[in-house]
Amino acid sequence: MQIVLAYSGGLDTSVLLKQYIEAGHDVVAMTLNLGESDMVSGDGSQAALDAVRQKALDLGAKDAVLIDARERFVEEYAYKALAANARYQGTYPLSAALSRPLIADLLVEIAEKYGYDAVAHGCTGKGNDQVRIEVGVRARAPHLKTLAPLRERPLSRPDAIAYAQKHNVPISHTAAKPYSVDANLWGRSIEAGVLEDPWNAPPEDAYAWTVNPAEAPAAGTEIVLSFDRGVPSMNGETGAAFLFNLNKIAGANGVGRLDMIEDRVVGLKSREVYECPGSITLIDAHIALERLVLTKEELRLKAQLDQRYTELIYDGQWSSPLRDALDAFNAKIAERMTGDVRVKLIRGRAVVTGSRSPYALYSESLATYGNEDTFKHDAATGFIEIWGLPIAAGSAKAAEAAQRSTLVTS
Ligand code: ARG
Repeated sequence: MQIVLAYSGGLDTSVLLKQYIEAGHDVVAMTLNLGESDMVSGDGSQAALDAVRQKALDLGAKDAVLIDARERFVEEYAYKALAANARYQGTYPLSAALSRPLIADLLVEIAEKYGYDAVAHGCTGKGNDQVRIEVGVRARAPHLKTLAPLRERPLSRPDAIAYAQKHNVPISHTAAKPYSVDANLWGRSIEAGVLEDPWNAPPEDAYAWTVNPAEAPAAGTEIVLSFDRGVPSMNGETGAAFLFNLNKIAGANGVGRLDMIEDRVVGLKSREVYECPGSITLIDAHIALERLVLTKEELRLKAQLDQRYTELIYDGQWSSPLRDALDAFNAKIAERMTGDVRVKLIRGRAVVTGSRSPYALYSESLATYGNEDTFKHDAATGFIEIWGLPIAAGSAKAAEAAQRSTLVTS
């Protein structure tokens, strides 16, 4: 077979790559840069990514492609979730979930470019990611075969290491790490190891992007996030570079640590730890701006639609027509989502301390308790009379009924 493999360079996908090659298949390894290596190795990120590509070639891949998908991920995936204030079960901002449909799209694009007939990934049969990737591939290219070798033959860590040693697959230091980690500019997820017992507090070594809030600077940091039709920036900087910086600043203040029991698509509950300093801060700021510029009715409906949007992404339905329709709703809303939000990042919290917008519906002269008040106070009397009419009528009826039943029983 001719297979495009989603390749991270880690132990599992390296073993898979070698197994395919040993079995006589042609493999193109596809590696994405979604900003994770910037967060970890700063200036050394390109060298780290080149090393992953070289590793695939050394293992015998026909070719290895490294795709810088940072801007595409941020603009076409992460910011769509931002528009919906998406946090699964009120908590997780969907960092891993958002990258899967992009991985699916790119697997298809690379398979088409090479004329290959199959794509493969290293997801297990217990997770959400297999669903998201395979549904995504089917949506774009139903004729492609999708292979999930770790679903058919689960690979234990000791077996993977033994295989790697036997077949000269280099084992990087990350293979010894006690967690399963997935990261991109929208956040970092940490699973497994001691975290599997939900009573265990996450050890400090689970975190890589955030300081412990207790050790964060007491003074905190104040930032101003600007939105232009829903697209955020800070000091004029946008896109991946902006998100990288926001992650750094918020992470240095201990913002974005999350710890939850999560309900997976495949039915089981799992214990998930995340650190999402940038996305959490942005979503809070986005909500603050919405409250300033949207009508009460828009906010009410949007909260419900946002919830559906979030579930749809989590559940691997990115390619559904419903998402398209909800995107259209969010795009209409975004026409007025221009303005600034000031946020104080302090000891694990992102606190909105101010908002302003040319589209603000807030009116100080209506809201004020001072002398400049223009609100028509006497109009409230008639409003209450009519607004309360059905409730007053209902209460009167209930009182009559109670009266009748005491007459009957006495
Ligand atoms: N539970 C999260 C999700 O389903 C994170 C998954 C992370 N994936 C991983 N292979 N570690 O979106």
